[in-house]
Amino acid sequence: MTIGVAAALYRALYGGVLSHIPEPTAVLLGQSGLRLLPWDRLPLFRSTDARLAVTLGGVRLPNPLILSSMYYDLAILRRAMGLGFGAVTTKSITRNARPGHPEPNMVRRRSPEGPGLVNCNGFRNPGLEAYRAALPALPHRVPLIVAVAGESIEEYLLLVQALAPFGELVEFNISSPNTALVYEWSRKPDDLLRLFRQVRAATAKPLIVKLSPDFADANEGAIIPAALDAGVTIINYGNTRRVPEPRLSQGAGGLSGPELFASTLQNVRRTRAKFGESLQIIATGGVDSADKALALIRAGATACAYLTGFITRGPALARLILDRLSRELDRTGSATLDALRAHDEA
Ligand SMILES: Cc1cc2nc3c(=O)[nH]c(=O)nc-3n(C[C@H](O)[C@H](O)[C@H](O)COP(=O)(O)O)c2cc1C
Repeated sequence: MTIGVAAALYRALYGGVLSHIPEPTAVLLGQSGLRLLPWDRLPLFRSTDARLAVTLGGVRLPNPLILSSMYYDLAILRRAMGLGFGAVTTKSITRNARPGHPEPNMVRRRSPEGPGLVNCNGFRNPGLEAYRAALPALPHRVPLIVAVAGESIEEYLLLVQALAPFGELVEFNISSPNTALVYEWSRKPDDLLRLFRQVRAATAKPLIVKLSPDFADANEGAIIPAALDAGVTIINYGNTRRVPEPRLSQGAGGLSGPELFASTLQNVRRTRAKFGESLQIIATGGVDSADKALALIRAGATACAYLTGFITRGPALARLILDRLSRELDRTGSATLDALRAHDEA
């Protein structure tokens, strides 16, 4: 089977079945299929092109594609590590276990750009102690990014100190729109500077701060400068965008998927132009095709993450993107992905 056929089969499965059955059943089916079947043993989903390697915070990733934060299940993370990604991110872990918001907490959203999601997951996760006990069982076939979310500086410190030893990188989330206290961080740049400094001092691991696309002015005017000032030099731009959604239990949620792409591209291009090479950028939001990933890298992204595209386009998407990047290196005579940025044609 070729990767094109695998991608077409998944599209038929998603378009014909998964996108028509109730969302909780589709999630159950999709996640069970991912957990139970050994997809990660098939070389089909991976690229062997060594030119695609990138260095993020000093850590070598075999390629620039990252599975964005949503899954905490170690069986799923383990499979994902063999599905072409250069790194895999955990769910944002909180101090205490959380059941998440009641259902409905995820709905599909159709748009001319393609299929997306709106969720009010509310950080459903097993909590710090249980996750710390579980994480040593996960082999790191590719680097693991451990993600955390807190409601106070003390909570972030506790989480980062406890979980950093289990990841190659640590992402701290100040941007999920589904719990007011996390989302509110973006409105408090002064508190953020203290947060950044203290978290930076709490671990030697490379730190990523995950930003909200809803706060572009604050991000670029105050939050990124504060992060750089504290020595946090990797940003993930970014999280879902908060939208009203009457079908959800909370009446609002985080929009993900292709509707985000145009602003993700602009955010990356502006941020790279303003801050130059002083920071590394993980571009997240709306990637569901090879062309979109390539556009983000050309615009200045060091790496590119996606989540909704994994659900709507399936496990073949990573290999399709990686093959496209390899062809682009051939076409432009570039030796590395960093060199491709010089070819931004926008
Ligand atoms: C159901 C669901 C749960 C998510 N959980 C988290 C989370 O725990 N932490 C986080 O930083 N982002 C979380 N995200 C956001 C994604 O990691 C990503 O930033 C966002 O969906 C935009 O990328 P995409 O358009 O590729 O999906 C979640 C997204 C979805 C759809």
